[in-house]
Amino acid sequence: MDASTLAVQCQGVMKTYDGGGQRVVALRGIDLDIHRGELMMLVGPSGCGKTTLISVVAGILDQDEGSCEVFGHDLLHMKDKDKLRFRAANIGFVFQAYNLLPSLTAAENVSIPLILNGVKRQEAKRRAVEVLKKVGLGDRTESLPSQFSGGQQQRVAIARALVHGPKLIVCDEPTSALDHETGHRVMDLLKEVALDRDRALVIVTHDARIFGFADRIAQMDDGQVVKVVRSSEEL
Ligand SMILES: Nc1ncnc2c1ncn2[C@@H]1O[C@H](COP(=O)(O)OP(=O)(O)O)[C@@H](O)[C@H]1O
Ligand SMILES: [Mg+2]
Repeated sequence: MDASTLAVQCQGVMKTYDGGGQRVVALRGIDLDIHRGELMMLVGPSGCGKTTLISVVAGILDQDEGSCEVFGHDLLHMKDKDKLRFRAANIGFVFQAYNLLPSLTAAENVSIPLILNGVKRQEAKRRAVEVLKKVGLGDRTESLPSQFSGGQQQRVAIARALVHGPKLIVCDEPTSALDHETGHRVMDLLKEVALDRDRALVIVTHDARIFGFADRIAQMDDGQVVKVVRSSEEL
């Protein structure tokens, strides 16, 4: 495969944590390519390293060994300032715990990535409201995170990850708190808004109900990718 079609290229990625004096090996040499235009799902048991891997891919966490390139850029060796700028412009991340700022309204939370990219507050809010409409929260733009259900907070978090049109969107369990119908709506939205031939979507999930949305599924176990398949029937 031509390198220019790659959104993400991980080679031999290793990561160990300090677990209170004990070494916890989270990633044991991950090789994984994700192509532009692709929705890649990462599945596997709790603790197998899924969140660690996507954190490395998104430049939130530095690996100990191996390389990980995003659209040909090696985030590990970038200066902090360049890395922040690259991430702000190119990567959208939906955290498992949402990580919304509690004192900001939904529209303000969703505006953040635009403001980080230099968009003026008023224009940022206008675009934030537009994306909130797409996730079904157009009538709740002035509510605070504490005034939303878990599923609604998840939709705000997704709107925030999409609003600046990043080329790589990474989601940690995006549908786990959602009912079946909302989960499908969110996946349709992610595919429609987030995916085109230049972009890629990486989704960590336990939710077998959404496996059908994937182009490929990477199955992880104990810090390794053990299988990459095109359909959940091959898992
Ligand atoms: N900050 C941390 N400090 C120490 N150990 C961690 C930390 N984060 C994760 N781990 C450990 O690393 C392994 C992989 O965790 P994680 O990537 O969160 O897995 P998953 O997302 O698949 O549940 C687990 O054994 C977990 O306990
Ligand atoms: Mg996790």
